[in-house]
Amino acid sequence: MSNTKHIFPKDFVWGVATAAYQIEGAWDERGKGESIWDRFSHTPGKVDNGDTGDVACDHYHRWSEDVALMKELGLKAYRFSISWPRILPGGRGKANQAGIDFYSQLVDALLEAGIEPYVTLYHWDLPQVLQDQGGWPARAVVDAFAEFADIVSRALGDRVRNWITLNEPWVSAFVGYKDGRHAPGHTELHEALAASHHLLLSHGLAIPVIRGNCPDANAGITLNFTPQVPASPSAADRDAARWLDGYINRWFLDALVGRGYPGDMVESFADPMEFVQPGDLDKIATPLDFLGINYYTRNIARADNVSEKQNQPRTVFPNDECTEMEWEVYPEGIYDLLGRLHFEYAIPVFYITENGAAFPDRVNPDGQVDDPQRLSYIKRHLEMVHNAIQIGIPVKGYFAWSLLDNFEWSYGFSKRFGLVYVDYQTGQRVLKSSAKWYRQVIRENAVP
Ligand code: FCB
Repeated sequence: MSNTKHIFPKDFVWGVATAAYQIEGAWDERGKGESIWDRFSHTPGKVDNGDTGDVACDHYHRWSEDVALMKELGLKAYRFSISWPRILPGGRGKANQAGIDFYSQLVDALLEAGIEPYVTLYHWDLPQVLQDQGGWPARAVVDAFAEFADIVSRALGDRVRNWITLNEPWVSAFVGYKDGRHAPGHTELHEALAASHHLLLSHGLAIPVIRGNCPDANAGITLNFTPQVPASPSAADRDAARWLDGYINRWFLDALVGRGYPGDMVESFADPMEFVQPGDLDKIATPLDFLGINYYTRNIARADNVSEKQNQPRTVFPNDECTEMEWEVYPEGIYDLLGRLHFEYAIPVFYITENGAAFPDRVNPDGQVDDPQRLSYIKRHLEMVHNAIQIGIPVKGYFAWSLLDNFEWSYGFSKRFGLVYVDYQTGQRVLKSSAKWYRQVIRENAVP
């Protein structure tokens, strides 16, 4: 590796990301309603080790300590999500003032610390009452989401400029309603397809609502991307790669840029899409200010396991470097992906809204947490982001996943993604060596 220092553009946004259910805890405090993740994690057998987000990182009570940590790291931006049932315990209708106050004070403290808030409206914690009324597969959820977006952007829009409507709708729709590994744990393709459409339509309706309440809003959506590489030149493996690319990478993206749902996938799903009504696709294609990209790994696609564990990509090359998620470390993938999205899809602006790695960290006897593998993962991905910027791809910021170790969905607390270590017994936070390194990157606006 060369000794070149990668200097980033002056206004590059250095951030970290979290999500409400993964860090907040206080699952039923001060008027908060139940979410589908509360229900799911309270159902035996759904989450490893029986873990729940009831307490998680206790961020709900420790938020000011966490803002101080972010300030200490010199962060320019913080991406966090709003718990819908904390704001609207009944899903719609009357807002819970205590919920609004929680996020409002957080925003104030961030601004005070010189940290720009990036708000994600939906990071997977649907109010359970709305699930009881059909959830994302039922069209009524779309109006409910627009109301939620209105309440939040009215309350915070005087101070929050950056808005992300949805985080990874692919995961909400397909992992939640088809694979059943996420809340609400259903296994119906038709539900997943309807959910994907209603998620997109919710996004399309929310964007103008946000812009109405916050005229200088910078509004977009975050998608997850896993580039697909055929395991061999065989027609079957190439077809598997094309199919997985359509399923994971193109399904949402094509609709968002105004190309409609990819025809090869509509044909392959062979499922009625009666939920698509006239005018919907235009609303979905409302122009974006930016696209948020979550990138972790690529996948080697092979025809013989195309239907197995689709969002847990597994390399066929056993000696490749992997994270604890068994995700291959493949930094070049973020460069290729950015190129594809910019040159084939003409997306105007990108933020890397998530990128990071889980490794089995522990506290050393001297109290330090040393995580050279995470540091190396982030460093190599940042170098690739820098290369992309060098060839003119408009990447405006990078958000490491995650600020804190947290509740990693169906894996519970077994996977640590934080730059900051969390002792779940005491709640104590310890900066890992990757956090200290990231602080230096931010300070120098460069990857050494
Ligand atoms: C992404 C999620 C995020 C976190 C990371 C590891 O898919 O958006 O909440 O779980 O994966």
